[in-house]
Amino acid sequence: MSEGLEKGRNRATVITVGNPKGGVGKSTTCVNLAIEALKRNKKVMIIDSDDQATVDKFIAKREKYLETQGLDADSDVEHVIQRSNIPKFLRQNLKRFDWIIIDTKGKSSEEFVISSVWSDIVISPTTDCEADSDELDALQKLMVSVNSNREALGLEPNQAHVFINKVDSRTFNTTYIPSRKAIKERMESEELPYLKLMKSYLTYYGAYKLVHKTGKGITEFQDKSKGQFQVFVNEIESLDPNVSND
Ligand SMILES: Nc1ncnc2c1ncn2[C@@H]1O[C@H](COP(=O)(O)OP(=O)(O)OP(=O)(O)O)[C@@H](O)[C@H]1O
Ligand SMILES: [Mg+2]
Repeated sequence: MSEGLEKGRNRATVITVGNPKGGVGKSTTCVNLAIEALKRNKKVMIIDSDDQATVDKFIAKREKYLETQGLDADSDVEHVIQRSNIPKFLRQNLKRFDWIIIDTKGKSSEEFVISSVWSDIVISPTTDCEADSDELDALQKLMVSVNSNREALGLEPNQAHVFINKVDSRTFNTTYIPSRKAIKERMESEELPYLKLMKSYLTYYGAYKLVHKTGKGITEFQDKSKGQFQVFVNEIESLDPNVSND
C-alpha cells in the first residue's frame, strides 16, 4: 500500500468525508464534491461505506436524471458500496481515478478511521457553532487513532479539515463570525492539534434538499449556492498533494 500512496499524478487522491456527528452533511458533501470534480474533468469514484446507503440512493436518482437528459451514465461519477476491505479496494483502484471520495457514517465509525488512515485529505463538515463542543473533541479523538495508525505505517499525520455547513445567512454576522473565530482559536491551541478550520463554509440553501430529490449536483443548478460550493472545491483542490505545481 505504501507504494500506492506515493505522491504523484499517476494515482488517485483519496478524500474521506466524516464526522462522528450525524446529519451534518457528509453524504451531501461527497456527492456534490464528486459532481463538481467531474465537471473539472476528473475521473471520480465515490465509496459508500455507510450502511444507510445515502450515496447509493442518490446515484439511483442520478441515473434517472442522466437518462432524461440523454447523458451517458458510464462517463459520470462511479460509485461502489464497500463496507470492508477499504485499503485493499483502494489499492486495486488507485490508478483508475483522479479522486476517490469516501462517505462514512456518523458515530465513531471504524470506516472513518480506516479510510482516513489511507487518505490524502480528510474533510469534516460540522454544523456546530459552539467552540467548546464535545463533537470537536470526539473528532480529535478519532484523528488520534488515525494518526497512530499512520505513524505505525511511516506516514505523516493527517489533519481533519473542518468546515461549517448550513450557516444561517440571516445570523451570519451576529452568530457565525464570533463562533468561527472561537472555533479557529480553539483549533490553533494545543487542545485540537489534528483539526484545522477551512476558510470556506457553506450556507444553508434550500437547493441542497433538491440534490437528493433530483440526482443533480448543487453546481448543476443555477442557484446562488453554486459559486459558494465552487469556492469550497477550489480550497479542497488546493489541499491536493497529487496536483503538480508546474
Ligand atoms: N448546506 C446545506 N443547506 C441545506 N441543507 C443541507 C445542507 N447540507 C446538507 N443539507 C441537508 O441536510 C440533510 C442531512 O445531510 P446528509 O445526509 O448529507 O448528512 P450526513 O452527515 O451524511 O448524515 P448521516 O450522519 O445520517 O450520514 C439532508 O437533507 C441535506 O439535504
Ligand atoms: Mg450520510
